[in-house]
Amino acid sequence: MQKIFHKWQHRPKLKLTKTFQTVITDDLDLAKTILDSGGVIAIPTETVYGLAGNAMDRDSIASIFRIKNRPYFNPLIAHIGKIEQLKSLCSTIPKEAQELIDAFWPGPLTLVLPKKKSVPDILTSGLNKVAVRMPSHPMTLELLKSIKYPLAAPSANPYKYVSPTCAQHVKNQIGSSIPLILDGGQCEIGLESTIIGFEENMAVIYRLGGLAIESVEEVLRKPLVIKTRSDNYVLPGQEKRHYSPGKEIVLIPFEGALPPIVNPDVLITWKPNKSSHNSLSLDGSEISGASRVFSILRELDNSKIGKIYIERAPEKGLGKAINDRLERAAYPF
Ligand code: TXA
Ligand code: MG
Repeated sequence: MQKIFHKWQHRPKLKLTKTFQTVITDDLDLAKTILDSGGVIAIPTETVYGLAGNAMDRDSIASIFRIKNRPYFNPLIAHIGKIEQLKSLCSTIPKEAQELIDAFWPGPLTLVLPKKKSVPDILTSGLNKVAVRMPSHPMTLELLKSIKYPLAAPSANPYKYVSPTCAQHVKNQIGSSIPLILDGGQCEIGLESTIIGFEENMAVIYRLGGLAIESVEEVLRKPLVIKTRSDNYVLPGQEKRHYSPGKEIVLIPFEGALPPIVNPDVLITWKPNKSSHNSLSLDGSEISGASRVFSILRELDNSKIGKIYIERAPEKGLGKAINDRLERAAYPF
């Protein structure tokens, strides 16, 4: 992985001056009109809601960084609706990338691929690779097919905060900064996409996410190189503290002994349990836990509670990505 250039190591300086009475709507024509004029809106995806603008327009991308207060060293994913668009973004597509595209697009998989010169540097933080994904949410797929450019879309939350999994989450946090939130209901998966790149012909996983590693390894018929954390320097998006609900979180091993809980502390178990306040999963499945973890962290932040004790997910399938998000949320202040 290429190191980030010094010039990207800062946060947006310009303050946002414009405020909006945001509308929550399913009006795709209105969404398209705003995007075509360089505006930024929120869009639903099967993973989390995104904050979207024209990925080939530097000004739209700069607005996204400003609205999120995201440092420029953290590059954005380009979202496409048609496979032909990939050729306008990437100079080469490794064979294994093509296998993954055939197996998992549209879906919760982002691929980091060599970028074409025409892709704005601000999108990729000066890196020579671009992250691309084709989301499967029908409303956003229709929108992407109706426009002539890919959409840059990070998760629609302020930098380092929990990702939004419904339109109201977006409105609560950044509603006044955008004119429109496209309402596609509750996100089906609830965790961000799995990110995979290729280094010296090896498939490398940079972020655990909504597509289980096991499924990827089955298609590639070999184990992935894991680079989801780095202690030497921070790869984009690998901050140890992220997804933060602003409360102290203590993690309990999966199926470990539950500590005695004293008010105002709360206990969240993996499966429903009489002694807990809530459970990550409703039925013990990782799919249910993934779809609920961010909204549970969000609810806990809103209430007057003390420490949050959370039992980990089983370390398999989407459970690995759930545990990754829990560890980052629990990382000390
Ligand atoms: O599911 C998702 O991926 C959602 C929805 C909206 O599509 N998007 C999302 O975007 O999670 P964001 O910006 O919150 O996370 C994108 C991650 C960041 O950690 C970023 O550092 C990484 O992708 N990324 C983007 N471009 C990259 C590149 N060229 N090389 C390595 N990592 C990259
Ligand atoms: Mg994010």
